[in-house]
Amino acid sequence: AEVKKEFPNGFLWGGAVAANQLEGAYQEDGKGLSTADVSPDGIMYPPSEDPAKLNLYHDGIDFYHRYKEDLALFGELGFKCFRTSIAWTRIFPNGDDAEPNEAGLKFYDDLFDEMLKHGMEPVVTISHYEMPLNLVKKYGGWRSREVIGYYEKFARTVLERYNGKVKYWMTFNEINVVLHAPFTGGGLEFEAGENKLNIMYQAAHHQFVASALAVKASHEINPNAQIGCMIASMTTYPLTPNPDDVFAALQQDRKTLQFSDVQVRGYYPTYMKRYFTENDIEFEIADGDEELMRKHTVDYIGFSYYMSFIATTDEEKLEEATKGNLMTGVRNPYLQASEWGWQIDPIGLRTTLNILYDRYQKPLFIVENGLGAVDKVEEDGSIQDDYRIDYLRAHIEQMREAVADGVDLIGYTTWGPIDLVSASTAELKKRYGFIYVDRDNEGNGTLERKKKKSFAWYQRVIDTNGQEL
Ligand code: BG6
Repeated sequence: AEVKKEFPNGFLWGGAVAANQLEGAYQEDGKGLSTADVSPDGIMYPPSEDPAKLNLYHDGIDFYHRYKEDLALFGELGFKCFRTSIAWTRIFPNGDDAEPNEAGLKFYDDLFDEMLKHGMEPVVTISHYEMPLNLVKKYGGWRSREVIGYYEKFARTVLERYNGKVKYWMTFNEINVVLHAPFTGGGLEFEAGENKLNIMYQAAHHQFVASALAVKASHEINPNAQIGCMIASMTTYPLTPNPDDVFAALQQDRKTLQFSDVQVRGYYPTYMKRYFTENDIEFEIADGDEELMRKHTVDYIGFSYYMSFIATTDEEKLEEATKGNLMTGVRNPYLQASEWGWQIDPIGLRTTLNILYDRYQKPLFIVENGLGAVDKVEEDGSIQDDYRIDYLRAHIEQMREAVADGVDLIGYTTWGPIDLVSASTAELKKRYGFIYVDRDNEGNGTLERKKKKSFAWYQRVIDTNGQEL
């Protein structure tokens, strides 16, 4: 018999962005410098404070001044929700300030009010790929336990202030990225001879404690709010049926899943403890940390999905690896890749949804997915981004399959519904939007907004609750 394939009523369709990738206004209204403000080359490269270097994050797409116009366009798309983050340095410019900056708090009040006016549920990441630079310089970023307290203060401040406006929260964007981009993920810089793994896991531990404290605060402030974790999903296939490859794929997946395991189940799994022992990884766990982590687990699992990965034990094969966003990947002969080498795998999304739901039995929220591509403005001014439509259609089809498989999926926000500065390579040429922004990698352009062909397509998808693709 026919299986019914449909999205639940109230499904949260929308788009997702991060403050540092689109707001710009990096020194306005009391904002302090963040790690993004000194990362002109993107998250995979070392920071630089050289003023002669163009940093596209500084101006972003000027969302700070144009958000009303942009939210009106999202309203036209029919967004049920909109995911953004709060720039920590607008609220606590140095991270360790005694009092929050009222101008910064006011900006997000206005932003969330405007979303609500358009019928969009704000979905808010407390910390997305940035932290106050001062916390890096003074304390060494997340290697220091003191940063937990500053994060907790920041989290409590915004959870209290926006209580009643924001129902969906996430504690850290792609928390597992601290292992791949330690400066962006953890404000970490290393000295020669330091044991990097120890420091990265110490930082991750501090973030786990901080995340548990934010969950605790959220549950105290508003038991009806939902607060989730957020991981960069890196679902991995074995290159061959060789059992060594199969096991290597399992282990590679655990490098990601350990982060959700801790935040969803509340404790370090034994496979992690074994890994720490075998690799002589040592870090401090203070009294009370484990109890706190066990007590304050997340309500849902947010994740980003762009591609799948391959594991192999064959050294030669590792050499043909292509460069991915966050790690080097082996080419999958069954998949096409984007212009940035990201291997497009819609069925991998269905697999990932099923893996996560089988593992946790908690609601899932796809908070990022999309195709970064170079767009061309035609002579008549139109942008024919059929490749983007194809990518999204194929992924949404697989989401619908996963829902029919029994996965409790609450929402879907495409990455960068309006073009913004990319994270891995800090450029504007890599576009994700339904809305084009006239600005290029050199920082030229009018910043004018223009609808692409995909705009009307996504509008129809939302309007039919994912039935018409
Ligand atoms: C995710 C991040 O890793 O991928 C976003 O959470 C990022 O911040 C997105 O922008 C896409 O990556 P990129 O490098 O194409 O911007």
